[in-house]
Amino acid sequence: MCGIVGYVGRQNKTSGAHGALDVVLEGLRRLEYRGYDSAGVAVLTDTGVESRKKAGKLTNLIDVLQADPLPESLTGIGHTRWATHGGPTDRNAHPHLADGGNLAVIHNGIIENFAEIKKELLAKGHTFLSETDTEVAAALLGDIFRTTGRGDLTLSMQEAARRLEGAFTLLAIHRDQPGVVVAARRNSPLVVGLGDGENFLGSDVSGFIDFTRRAVELGQDQIVTITPESHEITDFFGNPAEGKEFHVDWDAAAAEKGGYPSFMEKEIHDQPAAVADTLLGRADAQGRLTLDELRIDAAELKDVTKIIVLACGTSAYAGSVAKYAIEHWCRIPVEVELSHEFRYRDPIVDANTLIVSISQSGETMDTLMAVRYAKEQGAKTLSICNTNGSTIPRESDAVLYTHAGPEIAVASTKAFLAQITATYLLGLYLAQLRGNLFTGQIKDILADLHEIPAQIQEVLDREGEIKDLARSMSDAESVLFLGRHVGYPVAMEGALKLKEIAYIHAEGFAAGELKHGPIALIDDGQPVFVVVPSPRGRHSLHSKVVSNIQEVRARGAKTLVIAEAGDDAVRDYAEFVFYVPQTPTLLMPLLATVPLQIFACELATAKGFDVDQPRNLAKSVTVE
Ligand code: F6R
Repeated sequence: MCGIVGYVGRQNKTSGAHGALDVVLEGLRRLEYRGYDSAGVAVLTDTGVESRKKAGKLTNLIDVLQADPLPESLTGIGHTRWATHGGPTDRNAHPHLADGGNLAVIHNGIIENFAEIKKELLAKGHTFLSETDTEVAAALLGDIFRTTGRGDLTLSMQEAARRLEGAFTLLAIHRDQPGVVVAARRNSPLVVGLGDGENFLGSDVSGFIDFTRRAVELGQDQIVTITPESHEITDFFGNPAEGKEFHVDWDAAAAEKGGYPSFMEKEIHDQPAAVADTLLGRADAQGRLTLDELRIDAAELKDVTKIIVLACGTSAYAGSVAKYAIEHWCRIPVEVELSHEFRYRDPIVDANTLIVSISQSGETMDTLMAVRYAKEQGAKTLSICNTNGSTIPRESDAVLYTHAGPEIAVASTKAFLAQITATYLLGLYLAQLRGNLFTGQIKDILADLHEIPAQIQEVLDREGEIKDLARSMSDAESVLFLGRHVGYPVAMEGALKLKEIAYIHAEGFAAGELKHGPIALIDDGQPVFVVVPSPRGRHSLHSKVVSNIQEVRARGAKTLVIAEAGDDAVRDYAEFVFYVPQTPTLLMPLLATVPLQIFACELATAKGFDVDQPRNLAKSVTVE
């Protein structure tokens, strides 16, 4: 939610000079997935602070900059907004200026006590142009700069940060301090990029990935001051603090569309690699899992009596898939709970509870808060995350990274498959530690998992079948999705994809639940996707789902079936069948989800929507 970039460079650098504006705009381009309600930049020039901002996507700002260019500069900040306080207007766009136009501030997060501070500042004679909490923070910072802050931006930021409550990453530049950008972070992401004679700030590493691979993660409640030659970190009281340096292994090309018309389509096609890379190096040739990276004592994991998966949205559906596998393999009860519900209901956790949080971004506020709450209650916390250096893994006792690479499209695709893969590795590891499965059994499951990337590719190679279907259904007003067992969360995920990018009413149901109510929705021509389990499984679920298909068909539904190759019986009950390769039931979500992603992406494209930046949404939801 909101993308933030900061830059300071030095003239005549040996490694070639970047202009602040170029760096900031490039960073904003890469961070636009975090919000696209408005964009703005501010730079320091010989005469002071100059800024431009515009409602709408970054291209609108670029038009403004073409019509009204900014002078060359070596210090700048930029912002791309997902609106919270105040609508998506030019006036509410960041940066916000204060101290007579000499100070520019950008912000990600929500300042909860902004109304109280605004009242104080109004009483002192400050005036406000926007409805934002950010302008209040800017005015506060400007006020402190002129009084107790003694004209020092770092000192002033420390004092301002101590006054603010809520979640914020704030970046500021001031006319009186050229070559300096100061930032504060609490409950909101910020990473420092280290260059040669230049330094960077970004909401995540994609904000500066084109310029450096050296990054520093900041801790909670820290201030960082960057100049071309240095970065100094303190807490909110000015005590020196250390950041943790890490190398960014994502390459810039991975964050580009690579010839696909959208990031979403590219990321759907990245999925064989996302699964393969997540599996890579995590087991030896004998089939023993080697998750030493977990940093959690094996003895402690053995004692776990309950697992609670905490996540939101698509990541929560990955958790729901994992529940079936982990309970089956490890015989440990697994609860899956939406993070935002968890901490408000007095949940029962203790030292033998393992909290497994799942988050692509590692910054989702609801999940972060739930993890913190569980930690306070004494639980062990393990994060499954795709973003190195992000907050949730940093605050967890253990971390298992997914290696899906940067996911830019707002609708999650490859992260979902990588998350399922990682939870399966965790489940197998627990089963190995606790002796629930023999090494030979684990080896067999791993062998099946290693087949998955090639099988996803087979699905992708036949994407034309599902794309044709999607285009033929571009006027659908409602689509239902049914599944059972692991097919149930797949149905939920299929419905979520369609809602969020094609703006079509879509619901996912457990097929067995139909007769308890939802079947009343079935009318003549109602499209219903059904994820059909393998007929080879030892459960009789296949025949039960076939009965469910017949029930909806008898009431006029148009049935669209995702089934396993060789399941010829379903042909008789379906208007459309898409076959996925054979795999054990527990692994089927890794294949059955893919056609549903393609369907949503193609249908939304046929309707003329921007699949990468759907309305009202943002990637990385860093507000509660
Ligand atoms: C849907 C989607 C969201 C995210 C959710 C959690 O396509 O992307 O539902 O899955 O906001 O985000 P992370 O995984 O970053 O915590």
